[in-house]
Amino acid sequence: MAGILLNHVGKCYKNSREYVVKDLNLEIQDKEFLVLVGPSGCGKTTVLRMIAGLEEITEGEVFIGEQKVNTLEPKDRDIAMVFQNYALYPHLTVFGNIAYPLKQRKIKGVKYSKKEIKKTVEEISILLKVNHLLSRYPKELSGGERQRVALARAMVREPKAFLMDEPLSNLDAQLRSVTRSEILKLHRQVQTTFVYVTHDQTEALTMGNRIAVMNHGVVQQIDTPYEVFYHPANLFVAKFIGSPAMNFFDASVNKNEEKTSIVIEELGVCLEIDSKTPKEEKIIAGIRPENIIVTEAEKNGVKMQVDHSELMGTETILHLIRNDLELRCKVPTEDYRGEKEVNIQFDKEKIHFFSKITEQNLGLCCSGVRIGCLPGVLHS
Ligand SMILES: Nc1ncnc2c1ncn2[C@@H]1O[C@H](COP(=O)(O)OP(=O)(O)O)[C@@H](O)[C@H]1O
Ligand SMILES: [Mg+2]
Repeated sequence: MAGILLNHVGKCYKNSREYVVKDLNLEIQDKEFLVLVGPSGCGKTTVLRMIAGLEEITEGEVFIGEQKVNTLEPKDRDIAMVFQNYALYPHLTVFGNIAYPLKQRKIKGVKYSKKEIKKTVEEISILLKVNHLLSRYPKELSGGERQRVALARAMVREPKAFLMDEPLSNLDAQLRSVTRSEILKLHRQVQTTFVYVTHDQTEALTMGNRIAVMNHGVVQQIDTPYEVFYHPANLFVAKFIGSPAMNFFDASVNKNEEKTSIVIEELGVCLEIDSKTPKEEKIIAGIRPENIIVTEAEKNGVKMQVDHSELMGTETILHLIRNDLELRCKVPTEDYRGEKEVNIQFDKEKIHFFSKITEQNLGLCCSGVRIGCLPGVLHS
């Protein structure tokens, strides 16, 4: 068990001049479940491979526990990595696969006897619910079973940390959800540091103690799922986290001597703010689909046409249009009666505002409450 520290880490592949990971600073606590999330190509795998020692570190330092590991061989880092394709040995049974690391070499200076190997493999296979499959070969297993065997094989070495690179992406949706909870359960049981890579924001929100959101090799925000969702640090995080994605609108800042107000003309929203005033006159407003209040067409508000709707179960996503304006909102399915026209209103406190220039969240306040957060949550 150990924490992992990345200090100003950068990576530039030999055949290219461009840094694919830039000045990455990340402190992963011992026993933490940290999720690294971002779109394909943003550098997630590269980060994991640098921690594992499979990729050279161009700049900066990586520590595992107290030890600086920059030049340490992968086998000496005492870390287990589980990939997207589980790469089990096809000619070995499940038992053989799980036992492989124990037979291969001494673990932590101990050479295992046959009896000990059998005992360890059995214990771990019970934990991962593959104990009934020990005599089967990989080709006789389902995707989920193979995945659990790969995990068992990684765990048998009792590594200081687990690195997982999109381990669920080959599974179907239902199995993904089941395996997600199994990995979390496993994390609680083994009490080891996990660094989990995914491009799937739902996976990140549901699994992480903390999430690091990456884009173009740069970490955009590191925080709890709650903070990342309710206080996205910038426009990228706001767009990337949450499904369906946040709606964005142009907004203008109107200052006079007494007060500052922000107007979203398209939506007929005017909001007085009492925090620091943005320097810019034109800013961007963001509203999550679930923070739009949909009422019947006769009520007050902005009239919109329903272009189409998507039934998601207990919730329905409405795609609304009016002239050039398009937005998505999420309503309880039981409240939606298939109307062709609706009115919308806005929970003003849940609107986020971003700078058009820096794209940072402006962190504006209204009556002492930071806008964009849950009602009643005060920020100093
Ligand atoms: N071995 C390599 N040589 C050169 N460029 C690479 C290599 N591996 C990855 N890259 C590039 O580095 C960037 C990040 O890749 P990767 O870490 O695999 O992203 P992710 O896992 O987030 O999809 C991509 O632009 C990719 O093309
Ligand atoms: Mg990858």
